[in-house]
Amino acid sequence: MDVTEAVDSRKSIRAFLDKAVDDSLIKELLEKTSRSASGGNLQPWQIYVINGDTMNSFHKFQSEWTEPETPAYAIYPENLKEPYKTSRYEVADDMYSLLGIAREDKEERFKQVLKNYEFFGAPAAFFCFVDRQMGRPQWSDLGMFLQTFMLLAREAGLDTCPQEAWAMKQESVTAFVEAPDELMLFCGMAIGYQDESEKVNELRTSRRPVEDWAVFLDK
Ligand SMILES: Cc1cc2nc3c(=O)[nH]c(=O)nc-3n(C[C@H](O)[C@H](O)[C@H](O)COP(=O)(O)O)c2cc1C
Repeated sequence: MDVTEAVDSRKSIRAFLDKAVDDSLIKELLEKTSRSASGGNLQPWQIYVINGDTMNSFHKFQSEWTEPETPAYAIYPENLKEPYKTSRYEVADDMYSLLGIAREDKEERFKQVLKNYEFFGAPAAFFCFVDRQMGRPQWSDLGMFLQTFMLLAREAGLDTCPQEAWAMKQESVTAFVEAPDELMLFCGMAIGYQDESEKVNELRTSRRPVEDWAVFLDK
């Protein structure tokens, strides 16, 4: 698989097969991912892997944790502008129409959202934390790290879904992984093999054309 193929075949998977992923494979992928660029080579990522029996313990812990939680951060800006707002609504509409869930069917939509908190059935996952001292530049390093991981996962035949939804459950996640106070949760990453029979995985999200966001200067 070349890089173009990895980039093109990566997509967010929201239904996984019950097929285990070895810790050793995840470790190998993380080692390779550590070649990601980061400003000043700070490598500001802190990763907690959840796999095997730990995944079962995590699901149990999660279902017992009932207190409402303070979100780690605001996932989207308030009053999201165009064209971002439309893109955001489009992807949701495309996904729900693929699933045959009507716009007004809040209950079914919510059920789909809740699948985030089961890692969409993925057998493995990690949580990505960052030191609270870090600012925007280091947060962008996290993005590079996560994308590199997702592409390497494709090369290994694995699928992924990055998940900011976990920001809403940061207290329970932090308690489970026993992260120190100086760390804050950025996101989760579901890891496994996609269930090709599931409609939700047919989603091929659109992109705005290059002309809309890239300017080739000619002065
Ligand atoms: C940092 C990050 C967090 C995300 N969080 C979630 C999430 O919590 N739940 C979810 O279903 N998708 C999540 N996504 C997936 C995006 O919705 C998805 O990347 C986007 O719609 C483009 O689709 P694609 O990944 O299939 O190309 C996240 C993506 C990124 C990069």
